[in-house]
Formats: sequence, structure tokens, C-alpha cells
Amino acid sequence: MADAYDLIVIGTGPGGYVCAIRAAQLGMRVAVVEKWETFGGTCLNIGCIPSKAMLHASDLFDEAGHAFSSMGIKVGEPELDLAGMMGHKDETVEANVKGVAFLFKKNKIDTYHGTGSVPAAGSVVVTAADGTTTDLKTRNIVIATGSDSATLPGIEVDEKRIVTSTGALELESVPEKLLVIGAGVIGLELGSVWNRLGSDVLVVEFLDRILPGMDADVGKNFQRMLKKQGLEFKLSSKVTGIDTSKKRLSVSVEPAAGGEAETIEADIVLVSIGRKPFTEGLGLDQAGVELDERGRIRTDGHFKTNVDGIYAIGDVIDGPMLAHKAEDEGVAIAEILAGQAGHVNYGVIPNVVYTMPEVASVGQTEEELKAAGVDYRAGKFPFSANGRARAMRQTDGFVKVLADAATDRVLGVHIVGFGAGDMIHEAAVLMEFGGSAEDLGRTCHAHPTMSEAVKEAALAVDKRPIHI
Ligand code: FAD
Ligand code: NAI
Repeated sequence: MADAYDLIVIGTGPGGYVCAIRAAQLGMRVAVVEKWETFGGTCLNIGCIPSKAMLHASDLFDEAGHAFSSMGIKVGEPELDLAGMMGHKDETVEANVKGVAFLFKKNKIDTYHGTGSVPAAGSVVVTAADGTTTDLKTRNIVIATGSDSATLPGIEVDEKRIVTSTGALELESVPEKLLVIGAGVIGLELGSVWNRLGSDVLVVEFLDRILPGMDADVGKNFQRMLKKQGLEFKLSSKVTGIDTSKKRLSVSVEPAAGGEAETIEADIVLVSIGRKPFTEGLGLDQAGVELDERGRIRTDGHFKTNVDGIYAIGDVIDGPMLAHKAEDEGVAIAEILAGQAGHVNYGVIPNVVYTMPEVASVGQTEEELKAAGVDYRAGKFPFSANGRARAMRQTDGFVKVLADAATDRVLGVHIVGFGAGDMIHEAAVLMEFGGSAEDLGRTCHAHPTMSEAVKEAALAVDKRPIHI
């Protein structure tokens, strides 16, 4: 295979583009295949980046309307220019996707536009939009084709009135009433955006709590904060159908356990009930690549599929569907292919919800520790006792540190509060080094910072916080 690539990556989301760059850094001859016009995948085009642009802008709009006056700033009633806000989002996306194209050039990575399929190990066929095909040869293939929104049977998404996150980031006017199906990350982030911009938002959730998987204490407290902001919740409930025949949507909602249905009117329904792995068009049957029971590409724990020379990373394999998890897997497989010891520590992957306040966690929840029979000690510190939080009027929330009762090793950290998504990383670094609550509590933290609450929660594990 003299003219073959060392590596072809299919999909240029955070998993694929990072993998390609790392492989090129390690001296491999690399190509990427992308079916969309722009690089960057779900995350940069229709996910992390546009949603954060809207979260930031809508937060400033909300603050200008509600928070400024309490700090002696008179600006009058702020006026929404939705097209302008969408323009800010689109510019942000454009800058990021162009950035990936620049990085491909810089790292001498060949790029092919079209749908990549894998007839066999060593071979990738790229079918362009006009149907022309290009056959490529390669020593290794990494599949990084990501995921797509899950849908509900009988409910047809048109991305206009019944939308996924993609349509919810493109609405042309502020809906009077937005009904969100699913109180997970997308539902709460995008529900917050439209609530801040003026919609009445009702979140219908199948389970009896929001943010399943996050620490229950955090979930309960956070729900109270969102309620104060105006979001309404209908827990333990399911949507069974939507009548689209009238100007407004009529949504049938039933108790999750079954029972009498009620009809709720809405202008827009956001379906945010999870995402599913995306493998369409890859022709995996032909290559003999196996999927697991949930349609994800099955790997051996080191990204290798059952077929030699074919690997997979990111949302299309098991594990949390997070951009940084995909990125770390991209680096790890590139290093493995270069003969190094690529590795991802799945025990220390931070998880952040970018609402106001933010919710962030790393490691295990109290429920997980209890279920595993681990003897642990918890230390908690509220931001209401933190000077900087008071100065910024951001006193909602707390930090909770969970540590092994015998060894004091930190097993999990959970934060709900302003800037939680940045603060969580000191816990992540500590946990990567197997640090203890005492290590964290004895580390000098600058004053006045929100992060002092992390130190205090660590001290609280040993029942010796200073400021409560
Ligand atoms: P993707 O980013 O999905 O990229 C896959 C790429 O493969 C796409 O470009 C696709 O076009 C391409 N592709 C698919 N099939 C083929 C084929 N056959 N040939 C060629 N190309 C193909 N995660 C976070 O960590 N933080 C966040 O704040 C966050 N916010 C999100 C907000 C929203 C609204 C959504 C929907 C998701 C969000 N996520 C977030 C999740 C994050 O986007 C994903 O975890 C991440 O994008 C997964 O990366 P990936 O590389 O595995 O796949
Ligand atoms: P999710 O898995 O976070 O939440 C889905 C929610 O819908 C759950 O609470 C679930 O119980 C509920 N649900 C499922 N079926 C239902 C039904 N029929 N009726 C009512 N509720 C139902 O999924 P979401 O929010 O769609 O996001 C998908 C993924 O995208 C996330 O899991 C996450 O990995 C990623 N993401 C990450 C973000 C971040 O890191 N900040 C932001 C947005 C998305």
C-alpha cells in the first residue's frame, strides 16, 4: 500500500478532528472525510458552540432586564433583537468551523467532502453530493460519525414547530409557549434560553427528577432555582401524541405510569430525550463491523472494533456523549496507532450544564457511592457564605465534595453555582492525581473567589470549614 494513508478519519466532530490533528502531529499521513459542508461536527455546527452563544447572549439580556438595577445600573427595559442574537451565534459557529479547516491545512491533513463508507478494512469510499465516488486506501480507519437526536414514535419532527435542538437554535421568533420533552441537558439549556427571551416554558419529564445521572441533591436544588426563573416542570409524565392540525400544537401528556391524559397547548415542542449513535451510510455490514444492542459501534475498550484496522471513537461508541470525551478518545487512539500508550480515564470526565447557575460534576454521585457500598464522607459549602458570590449577587448553589471515609481520597465533586463549569477542573486535576479532600483543603485559594467554596467544601469533609 505505497500510496495509502496511515489513517483516514470519518467524521470531523471533536472526536474526529482532534484525532486527525494528533495523528498528524505524530507523523502519520492523514485524511478526513466529512459529509457536511463545514467541519466540526455536531458540537461546532449545531451543538455545544451555538447553544453556548445563545446561552451567553440570552443571559446578558436577562441580566440587563432583572439584575442590573439591583447593582445601581439603570438601562431601561432591554429590547430583544432576535435576528441580531442569531447573528452573534452564526458568527461564532463560522469562526469555529473555519478554525478547524485552518488546523487541517496547518497539519497537512487531506480533506474529502462526501459520505464515507467502509467496504472493508483498508478501504474508504467517499461519495460526494453529486454522486461521484473516490476510492481511498489506508492502513487504519477511525470512525467518528457521532450521533443524532432521538425521536419519539408517532411524533414527526419538522424543525419548525416540532423541533430538536437544531430547530430550537434557529427559531425565527420567540414562542409564546414552549413545551420541552425531557429534562436532560438540552431541555434545560435551551429551555433556559427561550425562557430568558420571554417564552413560557414547560418541561415534561418521564422520570421523577431532572438531570438523571447527576447527583440527586444537586438535581433537587437546581430544579428549585430553575422554577424561580420561571421554568415549569411536569415530572413523571410522558407525551403520547401531538395534534398539529391547528395553529397551536395540542400535546397529549399522560402520567408516566399510565392514567388520564391531559391536553396542553404549545407553539413549539422541543424533543430532547437523548441522542442515538449515527452509523447510516457507513456500510458497516459489508465490512462486518459489529454494533451493540443500542446501535453503537462495539469496541474492545481500546477503540478497536471486531475488524482489524477499523476503530471507533466519540458519540458513536459507548460512554457519555460529550465533546471532551470524544476529543480525549481521538487523542488516545492516535497515540495507540503510533505505538504509544493512549488512554482515557473515564472516572474523571467532567460534566457541565451551562445554565445559570451552571451545574458541574466529576466522579461519582452520592447515589452511586451508596449503591456500590462505599463508605464516604461528604463536605458541603453554600455560595451564600462566600464573599465574592455576595459581591456578584451569585449566592445560589453549593459545592459538595465526596471523599472515601478511610483514605480521604476524593471520589466525586458536585457544584451548582455561578462559574461551576470552570471551578470543576481543580477537582478533576486533583482526582487525576488521586488527591485527598485534605490536599484540596490545604491548597491556598485566592481570595475573594468563588473557588474558595471548593476549598471550604473539602475542609467540610473533615467538619472544619472556616466560614460556616
Ligand atoms: P459529532 O460531533 O456528532 O460529529 C460527527 C461528524 O461525522 C459530523 O460532522 C457528521 O456530519 C459526520 N459524519 C457522519 N457520518 C458520516 C459519514 N458516513 N461520512 C462522512 N462524515 C460523516 N457536549 C459537550 O461536551 N458540551 C456541550 O456543551 C455540548 N452541548 C451540546 C449541545 C447540543 C444542542 C447538542 C446536540 C450536543 C451537545 N454536546 C455537548 C454533545 C457533543 O456535541 C457531542 O458529544 C460531540 O459532538 C460528539 O463528537 P463526535 O466527534 O463523536 O461526533
Ligand atoms: P439527556 O439524556 O441529557 O436527557 C434526556 C431526558 O429525557 C432524560 O431526563 C430522560 O429521562 C428524558 N426522557 C426520555 N424519554 C422521554 C420521554 N418519552 N418523555 C419525557 N422524557 C423523556 O438527553 P438530551 O438532553 O437530549 O441531550 C443529549 C445528549 O447531548 C446529552 O446526554 C449530552 O450527552 C449531550 N449534551 C451535552 C451538553 C453539555 O455537556 N452541556 C449540552 C447538550 C447536550
